[in-house]
This record gives sequence, structure tokens and C-alpha cells, in this order.
Amino acid sequence: MNAILHLASLGALALIPAVACAATTNTKRCVELEVPVPIVATNQIFDQPRVDSTIDAIDWTVWVSTRTTLPARDRVIKDNPIKDIFKINAQLCVPSDKGPKADILQIATPGLGFDKRYFDAEVQPDEYSYVNAALKKGYSILTYDRLGTGKSQKPNAYDVVQIPTEIEILASLTKIARSGKLISSSKVLSSSRTTVSDFEPSKVVQIGYSFGSFLIQNVLARYPELSDGAVLTALYPNTIPFAQMIDVLHYDHEYPKENDPARFSEYGSGYFVLSNKADLQKLFFQKRSLDPALLTYTEKIKQPETLGEYASEGLSSYLVAEDFKGPVQFFIGEFDNFVCRGDCRGIYDPTEANRIFPHSNATYYLQPNTGHAPGLSKNASAGYEVMLGFLDSHNL
Ligand SMILES: *[C@@H]1O[C@H](CO)[C@@H](O)[C@H](O)[C@H]1NC(C)=O
Ligand SMILES: *[C@@H]1O[C@H](CO)[C@@H](O)[C@H](O)[C@H]1NC(C)=O
Repeated sequence: MNAILHLASLGALALIPAVACAATTNTKRCVELEVPVPIVATNQIFDQPRVDSTIDAIDWTVWVSTRTTLPARDRVIKDNPIKDIFKINAQLCVPSDKGPKADILQIATPGLGFDKRYFDAEVQPDEYSYVNAALKKGYSILTYDRLGTGKSQKPNAYDVVQIPTEIEILASLTKIARSGKLISSSKVLSSSRTTVSDFEPSKVVQIGYSFGSFLIQNVLARYPELSDGAVLTALYPNTIPFAQMIDVLHYDHEYPKENDPARFSEYGSGYFVLSNKADLQKLFFQKRSLDPALLTYTEKIKQPETLGEYASEGLSSYLVAEDFKGPVQFFIGEFDNFVCRGDCRGIYDPTEANRIFPHSNATYYLQPNTGHAPGLSKNASAGYEVMLGFLDSHNL
């Protein structure tokens, strides 16, 4: 519950952009895909202001934080059924040597403000790219741009890019990957020297970051049969009282086209993006593990969020994953400002963790000295060793 409220009060979740891996390195075996992902979901139409400029974006920030503004759940006008096939940009990488883990597919879901590049940083990739770390251990890994980010489709930001739709996109993408038809059902956009072919994974592990971890929690509860384990980074059941949580007023948002007209030309009404490096530092980093080159990179790859995502947080919560029996690790920066108000020590809530994952024996790990973006902070690769070691210890 607390973590959800966190999401709801901030709206500043973790994000990741998508980049063709072929562009990053010529040694990785990757293919970039446009995957048609069919989904059925029930979104909502909310009573909320429009955002068509940076003045509107800041005004929205003040409005959602105003004492007398109704919570989103009391601003629902009606259901908005979605039945569509969305174009999702994804990157599938396979290890160069086919070892025992090559048939285990990891699927990584980025958070708000990022596309898939969160998991595959182009700066010092041996230190920061989670994709590289997973490949090195012999896993196959699929990363993708959430709806409304990177090179994926960017539909209506109020009524379409919402949590229920994003949950179904992850579930549908996982089903396609499990069926062994990911590449054959997609448009292949580019591939590295060696061809990557379809395969039926023996197991699927979900890797999440922040908002992406939250989406995974709901997918594990709704579709327990689709996944065999999960590492949920930057998510942490905890005991912080609601009143102590950070709210969206801590961060400034701008209209994407005003923030960077060239980069964000495709983003229209209802999208907004964190303003600048100062905002990104406050939300994602702690100085003790901040590499200035990575802060600059974060500014370069930051992605817009939508009003619909924020509003739908108000109707979303952790679900009880009654039928999911796989292992779960919460992996969080020790000094995550967003989730823990700057200090995660001593506030893990095992009761809540066991409530939402009654059969997973969920565990947590605090990555030392790190803020809300462990994948872009110093010592990232040592953190990846912890995550991958957890999976290995559970035969994943
Ligand atoms: C739960 O996890 C802890 C820590 O990994 C481990 O020591 C313990 O044996 C596990 N319990 C069960 C029932 O799997
Ligand atoms: C780096 O991360 C590893 C794994 O979490 C940890 O054991 C180590 O103490 C960290 N080092 C620093 C300097 O934070």
C-alpha cells in the first residue's frame, strides 16, 4: 500500500529509453524488433486538466497537490475499454555462447522517465549495462520501451497510456516471448552481425525498475503462470507513513516539445518530462554514488510520462499474488529518495511483502550508497552480481 501511495503521490517514476543494441556494440548478439502487442484492458477517463505547455505542466503539478483537489479515484468519469494492437519497440539479446542459461529469458521493464536504455547504458557499458551483465552470465534478455516512450507507439496520453494498459502489454509480450514466436511475429528493424533466431524459453524471469517493478507485481498476480521469478528493483514494501512521503511538487515537469523540440517532437498533449539535471539528480541519485557522466547521460535519455499514468496510479495497488510461487527479490538503493524519503534502512515491511507475495518468501537487498537509480549509479555492476546471484541461487 505504501509503495503505491508513493507512486501516486509522485508520479515521478523511473524511465528508460530504447536504443538499438546494434548501435551500441558490435559484439552483442541482439535484434531490434517492432512487436505488435495485442491487448484488452479497462482504462478510465478522468476529470483532469489538459497539459499543452510547460505553464500547464507546472500548473498541473500544483493542481494535483492542492488540498481540495479530489483524489484520482474520485475523478473517474467512466471506464475506457481498450482493445488494440500496440507497436512496441523491443531488443532481444542472446548470449554468444549457448550455455545452460541461454533458454532462460529475462524480460526487463523500465520505469517512468526512462525507456529500455535504463537497462543498457551506452556509457561504460561494462559497468552500467544490465543487459551486458545478464548476457555475460549466459541469459537471454528482452528489453522494451513502455507505451509512450522511446520508439514505441505514443498514443493519447490521458486515456490510453495508463497502468491497466501497460500491465496487459507486459503480459501479452511475455506470452508472445514464451510461445517462441517473438521474432517471427515482429518487424525486424536491425540486428547485429550474428542472426538471432526465435526460441521457446524454458523459463521467464521478470526484471523491473520502479514503475516497471510495480507493473510486474500486478502481472505476477494476474498471470502467475507466465513467469518463474522476479527481481523488482527500486520497489520496496516499507513502513513510511503517507504524510511523510515526497510529492510531485518536489520535481518540475515541462512540456516535452518545449523542453527539447527536436528530441520530443512526437510528444503531444498530456505528456510531460522532468525539467533538467537538477530534477533528475533529486529524484534518481545520491551524491556518494553519483557519476556526473551518468547524470549527463540520464538527461540525454530521459523520457516523457503521461497524465494518464499519474491518474491511474490512484486506482492501482499491489495485488495479492496468491498463485505465484516463484522467488522474488526487492532490490533497492540504500538511500532511495523517492521510495524511502532518502533512507531505506530499517523500514522494510515483511508483513506487506508476505501479503502481496504469500508463497514467494520474498527477500530484499539494500544496494549500499545508492539512490533511486541503482542501474545508473556507481557500483552498478556489483549490484547486478547480487541480483543475478539471487536468481542463480533459485536455479534461475
Ligand atoms: C526464505 O529465504 C531465506 C533467505 O533467502 C532462506 O534462508 C530461507 O530458507 C527461505 N525459506 C523458505 C521456506 O524457502
Ligand atoms: C558495491 O556493491 C556491492 C554489492 O551490493 C557491495 O557489497 C559493496 O559494498 C558496494 N561498494 C560500495 C563502495 O558501495
